[in-house]
Amino acid sequence: GYEVGVYPSSGTGMLEAAGAHAVDPGGRVLSCAGGEFGGRFAAIAERFGAQVDRLHVEPGQVPDPETVAERLRGGGYRALLLTHCETSTGALTDVRAVAAAARQASPDTLILVDAVSSLGGAPLLAAAWDIDAVASASQKALAVPPGLGILAGSPRLLERAAASRSPRVYWDLAAYGRNRRQRRAPYTPAVNLLYAMDVALERLENEGFEAAWARHRALRDQFRSGIARLGMEPVAADACASPTVTAVRPGPGLEAGGVIAALAERGILVAGGMGPLSGQVFRVGHMGAVEPRHLDRLLAALAEIAARG
Ligand SMILES: Cc1ncc(COP(=O)(O)O)c(C=O)c1O
Repeated sequence: GYEVGVYPSSGTGMLEAAGAHAVDPGGRVLSCAGGEFGGRFAAIAERFGAQVDRLHVEPGQVPDPETVAERLRGGGYRALLLTHCETSTGALTDVRAVAAAARQASPDTLILVDAVSSLGGAPLLAAAWDIDAVASASQKALAVPPGLGILAGSPRLLERAAASRSPRVYWDLAAYGRNRRQRRAPYTPAVNLLYAMDVALERLENEGFEAAWARHRALRDQFRSGIARLGMEPVAADACASPTVTAVRPGPGLEAGGVIAALAERGILVAGGMGPLSGQVFRVGHMGAVEPRHLDRLLAALAEIAARG
């Protein structure tokens, strides 16, 4: 089965770990980046020596399964990079559909998924969808403090990694597995955070995965209909709106930086835009421990700010 490592790391470390297992210097990799985090994943693969081709995806859109399959066909690609939820835009890729099309078009290509801001908040079935690597972190939808990275690797990934020339020490998933089977860790584990993760996973299991995914979809719908009433526009199209995060264009007469500052004055912290969306949007995470009443309060503050202009 899959090997799962829970590392003392943030999410970026897990993207690097996925690269260290999947990339062989000189090998071709197809990136489907539609924002900053997809771009980060591609840059990491490049640093491991991959020859990275980039499929263009508009911010707020997601890669189309058939287009990905077409690019992969006959290309000898070693790996495909997908970002489940692109946190910079709030777009959620249909990983199930893209992975199915990719697997059919290019059976040997390793499918790597950045699920940092989606795991626990949106369905991602690694084995059923035949994903080779899932990279995630503790601090987003899992509602654990920051500091743990999660990497799940398929038997296919571990087999390719064993024969690859990319070096791995800290991230070595096979070494992690050998230790885990002896109830050991390869180096000092973040025991405090593992206890927190244990509590969070127990809560999630009690709630049920389907219920947790539905809870996140409801938060998204609450937030998106709230901003629509204020004339504000989400970056991500309805068809690919992430259940965990929304990037918002504040609309005429309002400036993103001003909205963020006005919210901060009211004790509400939201994020700004990244890359080309810098200064254009504010971003709201509605995942993990966020509840409907938090979004009610945020939407009330936004209504006040919009009315004041
Ligand atoms: C999709 C995605 N990938 C990667 C990262 C990087 O994670 P970290 O900041 O934990 O290193 C983030 C963080 O927001 C993310 O949202």
